[in-house]
Amino acid sequence: MKIAVVGTGYVGLVTGTCLAETGNQVICVDVNQSKVKMMQEGMLPIYEPGLESLFTRNLKQGRLHFTTDLAEAVAEAKIIFLALPTPPGGDGAADLSYVLGASKDIAKLITEYKVIVTKSTVPVGTADKITDVFNAHTNVDYAVVSNPEFLREGVAVEDFMKPDRIVIGTLDERARKLMGELYAPYVRQGNPIIYMDPRSSELTKYAANSFLATKISFMNEIANLCELVGADVDMVRGGIGADDRIGRRFLFSGIGYGGSCFPKDVQALAKSAKDNQYDFKILNAVMDVNDIQRKILVDKIKAYYNNNLKGKKLAIWGLSFKPETDDIREAPALYIIEDLLKEGATITAFDPEAMTNVKGALGDKIEYAADQYQAAKDADALLILTEWSVFRTPDFDQLESSLKTKVIFDGRNLYDIQKMIDCGYYYNSIGRRVVS
Ligand code: UDX
Repeated sequence: MKIAVVGTGYVGLVTGTCLAETGNQVICVDVNQSKVKMMQEGMLPIYEPGLESLFTRNLKQGRLHFTTDLAEAVAEAKIIFLALPTPPGGDGAADLSYVLGASKDIAKLITEYKVIVTKSTVPVGTADKITDVFNAHTNVDYAVVSNPEFLREGVAVEDFMKPDRIVIGTLDERARKLMGELYAPYVRQGNPIIYMDPRSSELTKYAANSFLATKISFMNEIANLCELVGADVDMVRGGIGADDRIGRRFLFSGIGYGGSCFPKDVQALAKSAKDNQYDFKILNAVMDVNDIQRKILVDKIKAYYNNNLKGKKLAIWGLSFKPETDDIREAPALYIIEDLLKEGATITAFDPEAMTNVKGALGDKIEYAADQYQAAKDADALLILTEWSVFRTPDFDQLESSLKTKVIFDGRNLYDIQKMIDCGYYYNSIGRRVVS
């Protein structure tokens, strides 16, 4: 099938590449000329495990193309995916100007039946707004489909190639059939394609992300309570997660959820509820809990140093919002760093992938180390802010000889409590006893 993907951000690039992998002819279009040139030359602008080999292969075999020319992209494509940004506007609602702007341009270009698919997370009613734009600018037949992405950064290729489910929201029979054919190779393992109307599909995406964010925030509150009553959140997690109705996943307490989706989507859903005169109380609480949770490690550090961090040299392991990505959008680490700098601490950080992005955001406000032990050199304490595998089983002897004092604040609960006792660390994690 001939496919166009408008927008080569994270979602567009993964979508385009993975659609090419099953034999489709994919043309990706972006306004950013230097980025398009880079991709035409075989270079990827993002880090995502597994993407590079698929990207290179499909580029070489001529199934994946890049252009800045929307007309060229739209000309032959049967299905046009919109993978454009929907950043939060000033009032928390998603800004649809890119999506609607591109829709207008496409509407003016089409000369035969096309399927327009929203892949970006868009508020309920966006398919109708796109329909209005098309009706205003073309007489050609078309269909609008909502097809939300559920990709997790770090495992996006796997999520695309073997999705738990595919949601297709359309009332157009022809579009429904085409979308079903397009996705058939991705659901061979038996997972469902779920068809519904566009509004339900649009809400499904927000409901999924908001539910997961709620699950995490609930667990973060349980962790905070564990500390007060002398319980261990790891035990409680095991105890409740074994119940199938609750499930084991997304029950890890820490320093709050981050990333490009959860914070934005929870906020947008709460706003959309409010616009419809509905006060979504749970979502408001989820956002409050997350704001507090982002400060929890700083509170612990301040308490340990009697509210005086001036001159303290702190080492940080992990900057990205989660492992296996260089993405620092809404990363808890950035909030924590800002608070610590305000308190007068100095910081040396290491992250396996996100250092370039953090350098761009923070410049020389902090120091950057070549590896994790160099970051810990002469530090008063080590802070663990992202659970990269490489931090899970460090060489504790080397760590001990690097650190000035054996103090660890662990925002991701990486180490066994008994191990910390045996190694003689002061160890403060989330929802577990403090080892001192
Ligand atoms: C998420 C959704 O999972 C995905 O389906 C959607 O399409 C986009 O948003 P992503 O943002 O890549 O994906 O990350 P995810 O792995 O879901 O983690 C989100 C945040 O939750 C991270 O900050 C992570 O650290 C945090 N988290 C996750 C926890 O704090 N505890 C957990 O148990 C799980």
